[in-house]
Amino acid sequence: MKYITVLEASEKWGINERRVRALLKEQRIEGAILKGHKYFIPENAPKPLDRRIKGQRLFEDSPLKDINFDFKNYRKQFPTDDGYFGRYGGSFVPPKLQKAMDEIYYGYQTIAKSSKFIAELREIRKNYQGRPTPVYHCQNLSNYLGRVQIYLKREDLNHGGAHKLNNAMGQALLAKYLGKKKLIAETGAGSHGSAVAMAAAYFGLKCDIYMGEVDMEKQAPNVKRIEVLGARVVPVSFGTRTLKEAVDAAFEAYMTEYKDAFYVIGSAVGPHPYPLMVRDFQEVIGREAKEQFLEMTGELPDIVTACVGGGSNAIGMFEAFLDEPVNIVGVEAMGTGKEIGKNSATMTLGKEMVLHGFNSYVLQNEDGTAGDAYSIASGLDYPGVGPEHAFLKDIGRVKYESITDDEAAEAFFLLSRLEGIIPAIESSHALAYAIKCARNMKSGSILVNLSGRGDKDMDFMLEKYPHMFLDAK
Ligand SMILES: Cc1ncc(COP(=O)(O)O)c(C=O)c1O
Repeated sequence: MKYITVLEASEKWGINERRVRALLKEQRIEGAILKGHKYFIPENAPKPLDRRIKGQRLFEDSPLKDINFDFKNYRKQFPTDDGYFGRYGGSFVPPKLQKAMDEIYYGYQTIAKSSKFIAELREIRKNYQGRPTPVYHCQNLSNYLGRVQIYLKREDLNHGGAHKLNNAMGQALLAKYLGKKKLIAETGAGSHGSAVAMAAAYFGLKCDIYMGEVDMEKQAPNVKRIEVLGARVVPVSFGTRTLKEAVDAAFEAYMTEYKDAFYVIGSAVGPHPYPLMVRDFQEVIGREAKEQFLEMTGELPDIVTACVGGGSNAIGMFEAFLDEPVNIVGVEAMGTGKEIGKNSATMTLGKEMVLHGFNSYVLQNEDGTAGDAYSIASGLDYPGVGPEHAFLKDIGRVKYESITDDEAAEAFFLLSRLEGIIPAIESSHALAYAIKCARNMKSGSILVNLSGRGDKDMDFMLEKYPHMFLDAK
């Protein structure tokens, strides 16, 4: 039999070389053989069927299935000028605060779109944050699980150890251009608090970080970090003493200080224009990841996934893939059960409501008030979710699944042991979902956004899951 090379097959079939290699790896070219590192393809092999389809991939129950919705123009359409993604989003704040929101929106639309601002942010991302962060193929984990290949977008390698700095530097730069003297922020896991403290030090601004007392105890290393960076941690001691109350307290402080201060919201939540700004500052994650993944494998992943607290790392990852034939899955925290107060699975269990100045899905008590959220991951422990996620769920473009505390803990220890990478317990939820899928799939690839590193979680995890730590040994 006569054989041809990859290059010759690529020219013959009109499929690019990288793609031919990918098809070979998946054993989808009949009769091809591998000798050493070289492939030999039978000259008469039929052109392989490429299962990649054009356009986005909608889930079965999507109301858009028959409409042919154009995701190419999605970013231009959503949010609308008044901040709506369909029925979600908007700005529900007192008139005094609306003035501050208008100032930020105007500043964002003019200053943040200027070439000077864009150049300065690009420089910060490259030389201060260390971007681009890599995409990493988890060979050991993939081998351990079977035939599905797992890849990580390493946002844990972003300066500060989480994706939060992408947004914090963007908003802090805008604050500097607007002449503000102080940054205010809320934090759950302390990742956003640390990022804002770094940004404040970088730009020479004062900084107050509001944090629930429960989270201060769970995420003690980050509290120290924020203080070493020169910011003030303001303990929040009412309600569940976690992220929701930290947001309440930060808003309260901002109401009195808005003339001189800028409220750096840490997730894709809050009144317009925050969900828009945060999405845009985080969108670098997906843009880089898509290019890197294509470069590495010659094709797109079958599934892209990320954990969803308020939704910033997820929306940053998903945006670049909305228009592609890729399944997109956001992963929420199911904590220890479905009852109110035991989870943070807002999209799965919540109902529409206005909270913290925007309309979205929110966990609710029977009387319609916002319910308590819980997760082992302080960064996922929020009863609401970004309005864009609510919209993407309703139109069936993104699916939202949930993972329990214990499943996330298993993923935390597994990645640490098999790859030498300790994931944040927030990111471990997305990883646990990927592991679950991989155990049920015959082949394919999953790209997980590893939103942060888990050093902050180690003490707490060892205390709470000593048996998993010992099993690992
Ligand atoms: C490492 C990490 N990942 C994810 C999150 C969740 O936030 P978001 O949903 O906005 O990405 C947090 C929040 O603190 C975090 O620290």
